Amino acid sequence: MKIAVLAGDGIGPEVVAQAVRVLEALTSDGMKFEMEPALLGGCAVDATGKVFPEATRKLATEADAVLLGAVGGSQYDSLPREQRPEQGLLAIRKDLNLFANLRPVALYSELANASTLKPEVILGLDILIIRELTGDIYFGEPRGIKWHDDQRVGFNTMIYSESEIRRIAHIAFQAAQKRNQKLCSVDKMNVLECTQLWHDVVIEIAKEYPDVELSHMLVDNAAMQLIRNPKQFDVIVTGNMFGDILSDEASMLTGSIGMLPSASLNDKSKGLYEPIHGSAPDIAGKDVANPLATVLSAAMMLRYTFNQEAAAVRIESSVKKVLTEGYRTSDIYQPGMKEVGTREMGDAILMNL
Ligand code: IPM
Ligand code: MG
Repeated sequence: MKIAVLAGDGIGPEVVAQAVRVLEALTSDGMKFEMEPALLGGCAVDATGKVFPEATRKLATEADAVLLGAVGGSQYDSLPREQRPEQGLLAIRKDLNLFANLRPVALYSELANASTLKPEVILGLDILIIRELTGDIYFGEPRGIKWHDDQRVGFNTMIYSESEIRRIAHIAFQAAQKRNQKLCSVDKMNVLECTQLWHDVVIEIAKEYPDVELSHMLVDNAAMQLIRNPKQFDVIVTGNMFGDILSDEASMLTGSIGMLPSASLNDKSKGLYEPIHGSAPDIAGKDVANPLATVLSAAMMLRYTFNQEAAAVRIESSVKKVLTEGYRTSDIYQPGMKEVGTREMGDAILMNL
């Protein structure tokens, strides 16, 4: 099992190190991982001048899966756009055709009081957000900032082809079939033509999945419903930009954005696995970041790319166990719990593995 390890920037290397230790610990179960590091994002710009160097592209293409930390840092924000770390992330997603981004939003009951929402609103929460990842306004052309008359105008293009909508809709309906057979498609069809097409195509695809109950929600309402009554949702499917925003919002239902893993898949179960959080430069290098989202991303890798369900469950159970035992990084800390750093949290997981 060949894994490209792209630790990236900020807290990326610290959280990825813990996920790597967890994977290595599984080697004793007869699994064998070949893990090779490469540069992506700001660290790649510093070392090579490129956000997504050719060597990284080659390794990521050859590997079965990619484990990623995070990219970005304020020192890069004034560089030309093509040299900004985020472009490296977008480029690798596009290059590997990772159009299906799965972001499970499940609450560990131990963290019910760590969320800013009331426990009764979130206890039992288990949502899967499916975000389309290689289209939409993120990649649409034309884009830019231009002079028009005597002032600058900024513009981007929100665009989806029906084939792009169809393939993500199939993924979403099939995911719903394996869960509680409920799919909510989120759009803004009351204003945007692009998402009217999204809405219409999802309805067409629904005919192939009569066992799944399909509903539609406008994105502004969805943002509100996620806070009002998040347990009404089973699977949510939406476009790239709405999915970006709603998944950050939803992460807080679980107590911290430091808890949410993700899988970005192509049509052949090749995957890139990363926490949904960013590089958090303010806490980088301090050994305080929560590594659980990255560790849980490694579990998703075992499940989706390597078909090792039992090993994935073992990691997830260990995470549950350390939370039951009271280990908390500062983002999910509550009085009476044992506050630990990034590496100590890794130690606790290894103990339970
Ligand atoms: C995410 C991130 C990225 C995105 C950024 C870092 C480019 O916010 O994975 O959600 O917008 O997709
Ligand atoms: Mg985001």
